[in-house]
Amino acid sequence: MDFELTQEQRMIQDACRTFSRQRILPNARQWDIDEAYPRELLHELAKLGFLGVPVPEQYGGTGLDYLSEALVFEEIGYADSSVRTTLSVQMSLVELTVLKWGSEAQRQQYLPPLCKGDWVGCFGLTEPGAGSDAGSLSTRAVRQGGDWLLSGQKVWISNGTWADLAIIFAQTDPSQKHKGLVAFLVDTKTPGFHAQKMKGKLGLRASDTGELFLENVRVPDSARLGEIGEGFKIAMSALDNGRYGVASGCVGIAQHALDCSVEYGKQRRAFNKPIAATQLVQEMLANMFVETQAARLLVYQAGMVKNRGERCTIPVSMCKYYASEVAKRAADMAIQIHGGYGYSNEYAPERLWRDARVASLYEGTSQIQQLILGRHLTGLQAFEDEQQRVLATTP
Ligand code: CAA
Repeated sequence: MDFELTQEQRMIQDACRTFSRQRILPNARQWDIDEAYPRELLHELAKLGFLGVPVPEQYGGTGLDYLSEALVFEEIGYADSSVRTTLSVQMSLVELTVLKWGSEAQRQQYLPPLCKGDWVGCFGLTEPGAGSDAGSLSTRAVRQGGDWLLSGQKVWISNGTWADLAIIFAQTDPSQKHKGLVAFLVDTKTPGFHAQKMKGKLGLRASDTGELFLENVRVPDSARLGEIGEGFKIAMSALDNGRYGVASGCVGIAQHALDCSVEYGKQRRAFNKPIAATQLVQEMLANMFVETQAARLLVYQAGMVKNRGERCTIPVSMCKYYASEVAKRAADMAIQIHGGYGYSNEYAPERLWRDARVASLYEGTSQIQQLILGRHLTGLQAFEDEQQRVLATTP
């Protein structure tokens, strides 16, 4: 495999690094304290092409490949995972989903304002009673003439209160389980749609997270994304994109943890020498270095599969699982190296640690990724429905 970046990929990486280190990184601490960053930043990102990296130019995107998308997520994730989360949801979960499953009219209507940052999108899958078990949604879609009425509740929705457009997954027929799900493109100004901010998060404090309430939200059949019954596949294929974005952002967290640890370790002295000259600190740095690069190469491998247009569930689960665990370990080691200062928000490691923690939870926990990989290896399903299991084993 050839991991040499092309000139075009290096250009977007450099441009994104310069922008994010100058415009985002110096503000990340304050935005974390304020629990918000200025929405106007999205327009600045859009002007540089960072809001529609893999979307074709004909729909207002930048028209680059998936490796370029990962490079952008890594650089933004290095600076601030809250901003990276907004971008991941916008590009990976919303834009790419509209691009893949939308009609030509839907692509033309939604992609240009999303790529320009005029519109924010969110991905309404998770519910109070359905997280990992994404096939068991309670939100209902009931057909009424040429329209649909949507009712239900969604939680932990990134960009939830900022969103102008929500992809809402709903059940049309509970007896059909995941085969009854359908996806809709819902304008959040539609009567009956209400969003409420969720506060008190451990990390990603500057990013917008919301709860969505839908009470008889009426949408025309033309708002349907894909066919009736395709909702689950749409959600899973979207998560193949979303998890790739999370993994790339985690490489950024791990790289930041390493860089600030090397810098601090060289200037902090103990026992009459820089702590970076001690063997145990060098062991930690070496581990962070190797693991960060290994995570990056797994992301690049998944990116190459995506560039070939092949199904990428397995390489994406590998990189999402590994990179999110690496980011947590790297941030933890950075705190260890910074000692007491690592425990203070005067330095980056504590924010990196809090921000990294969610990455092995959202968009599929580490355990879900392990089970996807375990099923791939063995052909055996570990997350079967308890009712089906009982029926199958009852004589
Ligand atoms: N692409 C296309 N189709 C896919 C697919 C994919 N990646 N993955 C599965 N499918 C299809 C399968 O081919 C299958 O099709 P048929 O019914 O035609 O055979 C169907 O979908 C069912 O697939 P599975 O058998 O794999 O489904 P499962 O019920 O065993 O579920 C699961 C598996 C992996 C546990 C899945 O439910 C899952 O990934 N859960 C985690 C959900 C998750 O990540 N939630 C986070 C949501 S987003 C979020 O965090 C909020 C935010 O704002 C960021």
